[in-house]
Amino acid sequence: MAELLLNLSSTAVFLLAVLSLTSSFATIESKPFARVLSPSSMGLTKPKKLSHLHFYFHDIVVGKNATAIRVAKAPTKTAFGAVVVIDDPLTVGPDIDSKLVGKAQGIYVTTSQTEASLLMAYNFALMQGVYNGSSLSVMGRNPVFSDVREMPVIGGSGVFRLARGYAEARTSRYDYNTGNAFVEYNVYVLHSDSLVQSLKLIFTFG
Ligand SMILES: *[C@@H]1O[C@H](CO)[C@@H](O)[C@H](O)[C@H]1NC(C)=O
Ligand SMILES: *[C@@H]1O[C@H](CO)[C@@H](O)[C@H](O)[C@H]1NC(C)=O
Repeated sequence: MAELLLNLSSTAVFLLAVLSLTSSFATIESKPFARVLSPSSMGLTKPKKLSHLHFYFHDIVVGKNATAIRVAKAPTKTAFGAVVVIDDPLTVGPDIDSKLVGKAQGIYVTTSQTEASLLMAYNFALMQGVYNGSSLSVMGRNPVFSDVREMPVIGGSGVFRLARGYAEARTSRYDYNTGNAFVEYNVYVLHSDSLVQSLKLIFTFG
């Protein structure tokens, strides 16, 4: 009998605990931290525009004008395990003195023990025209000696909010003495059309 009472009272305690949990959930729900909006209320539409950006990326690893600095190195005999921070200029033409359209800012890491392959994680910080202040975020694998490397564009900011796409990189020149690399980029991104009013290719070809 006493045992039955004990069981009943522990059941009651359990029920009370469940009830108080439920009510604290209810309190949380009454002060929501998330809500559902219509994308158009934020000036966002489903991806409707496909932008094509074309520019040259200059990865200068030596000299006083270096734009890529190694900040870490693994205790290996190979290049595997190095981390490089970049602030690489992006220009309209292959010449580094041609018009600057932005910077590639981020890191790359040598992530293969058997080949020259990088993990790239960086932003294209754009600086021209309607794109000034907007960015695209790239995260992908870059086997640097392949003719064409494709890396996902995983998002963007400013006119490129909610962007998705990919970047194609082709080395136009690699200096074996210094390690400096000059890379042609074609970037294709889907994004809302409402943010870029007149979508002209401002990164013109050459
Ligand atoms: C560094 O940049 C300056 C200005 O563009 C240039 O005059 C100079 O030749 C460059 N130095 C090297 C070592 O490339
Ligand atoms: C880009 O925006 C910055 C900050 O507003 C401004 O200082 C700069 O002059 C702009 N650049 C161009 C090329 O419009």
